[in-house]
Amino acid sequence: MPSAPAPAGLRRADSWWKSAAIYQLYVRSFADGDGDGIGDLAGARARLPHLAALGIDAIWFNPWYPSPMADAGYDISDYRSIDPVFGTLGDADALIAEAHAHGIRIIIDVVPNHGSDRHPWFAEALAAAPGSAARERFWFRPGRGAAGELPPNNWQSIFGGPAWTRVTEADGSPGEWYLHLFAPEQPDFNWDSPDVRREFEDVLRFWFARGVDGIRIDSAALLCKDPALPDVTGAQPPGPAHPYTDRDEVHAVYQSWRAIADEYSTGVHGAGVHGAGEHGAGEHRERMLIGEVWLPDASRLARYVGPGELHTVFNFPYLNCPWDAAELRRVIDEALALNAPLGAPATWVLSNHDVDRVVSRYGRPDTSFDLERRPYYHSLPVDLALGTRRARAAALLTMALPGSVYLYQGEETGLWEVQDIPDELRQDPIWDRTGGADPGRDGCRVPLPWSGTEPPFGFSPAGAAAEPWLPQPKEWRDLTVFAEWADGDSMLSLYRAALRIRRSVPAFAAMLLSWRQAPDGVLAFDRPASASTADGDAASATTPATVRCVANLSAVPVGLPPHASVLLASGPLADGLLPPDTTAWLQALRAG
Ligand code: NOJ
Repeated sequence: MPSAPAPAGLRRADSWWKSAAIYQLYVRSFADGDGDGIGDLAGARARLPHLAALGIDAIWFNPWYPSPMADAGYDISDYRSIDPVFGTLGDADALIAEAHAHGIRIIIDVVPNHGSDRHPWFAEALAAAPGSAARERFWFRPGRGAAGELPPNNWQSIFGGPAWTRVTEADGSPGEWYLHLFAPEQPDFNWDSPDVRREFEDVLRFWFARGVDGIRIDSAALLCKDPALPDVTGAQPPGPAHPYTDRDEVHAVYQSWRAIADEYSTGVHGAGVHGAGEHGAGEHRERMLIGEVWLPDASRLARYVGPGELHTVFNFPYLNCPWDAAELRRVIDEALALNAPLGAPATWVLSNHDVDRVVSRYGRPDTSFDLERRPYYHSLPVDLALGTRRARAAALLTMALPGSVYLYQGEETGLWEVQDIPDELRQDPIWDRTGGADPGRDGCRVPLPWSGTEPPFGFSPAGAAAEPWLPQPKEWRDLTVFAEWADGDSMLSLYRAALRIRRSVPAFAAMLLSWRQAPDGVLAFDRPASASTADGDAASATTPATVRCVANLSAVPVGLPPHASVLLASGPLADGLLPPDTTAWLQALRAG
């Protein structure tokens, strides 16, 4: 075990997760320490000082566990270790400790809906007979049709094709089918099985004891299935009557997980692997849970959040929303209204490893996004200059909202969606499973450019044995971290400045927002530093501590309201005007 490092860096603020800026680190594509063309923990550790200087509060790591990588690590064969391509458990321990020393908390991904077909339990299930306890941990069923040749029901895989695959029994005969809501290599666990519940509770304890600060729960609404496994009808909305999305039983799972997170938050478990100095008994260090829950109905989404359940859920309606002031206002209000009564903070997210990069989305004639319509979006022209201007404005809008904000790696340097990856190099199972109809998610997962003027742009060390696992566009020479760090007008400089201000100005820590009157196409709101200034529209309600955010999504310049100073703007301001697709943070005038 590593020796205890100084925990000096962790700010001791309670409920850090309520307003944290959380950096999503997609480890395969972040930084390659050993030159095999794939990002790893050594690469991430080496760049922790950079992330600290960027000004983030926490990192969310996509899955780092042993995996055959049929779905880029979301097919896990061992939940208590690290894939050799990424490093070792010792590297993870060191990384957690070093991140803490830098004041950065660590959130990891846990994937409870499904495992890998190479998970020891699945091998056991395949070797065991139909009806055995080993098969009960998954969903094995006989097929329909005279010889069981048809899948047990009509469920479709989210990656395309049927959600069932038939196995060959130990005696060589065609056998039962098993359920996989994603790829065939990702068999769904049966959450009615006590083994499954116990196992995941133990996995949570394993990682909390190692010092992780939070868990991102993958596909969180899908775990529980109707045991009768009825056909799904087209019109069935998610909810208690749906056979597998958002069933009521799932909440008991997260209530038990919350109890575990709370136990570790109060330090009742003692020293943990880093010794008493860091996580000593009685120490209060809050652990959090964030759910990946895609649900159209806000009232159903609300059921996942609150003191007895998850701390937060991702705000996907915000991510999917077009660059339109009225639509955004509606989505923001809905998120705030949903979270406030639950005492939970809203979350704000513009992009992640599953969706098209924001610069490309906002550069299209249709700026909305919907995972299920990616081929349509990819058929549209992209104006990168326009998309970049809007992405800058969106970054300031997003970081001004009350709650926690998730930044997906590469967003801070303005990377775009790489839409022209050669077919033979594509890796996402969505591409294969849809016969090439859906290009999949590789375009937002291309390895980051760090420095230099040609690939691998410092992603891999000099003399690396392999090229980056996905090809980087040569135009990214202008978007390297090194080039942008030195350029005061770059996207990276904007993110750094925004994160610094967001962290240091008290108004951003107070969870308050009050809308201001604004012309059509313009969003304007105040972030008061205290409740006494949070209500009403009167100018006298503002104090110099109030920050006003104004985002112009209209096609014409608008006048800036009176202000004491401009804290930050996403683009040049001229003659007191805020140009189209620009956001400004203003310091309020002294009242009276
Ligand atoms: C959601 C993850 O974000 C995505 O990348 C993954 O493919 C699916 N869950 C399946 O685990």
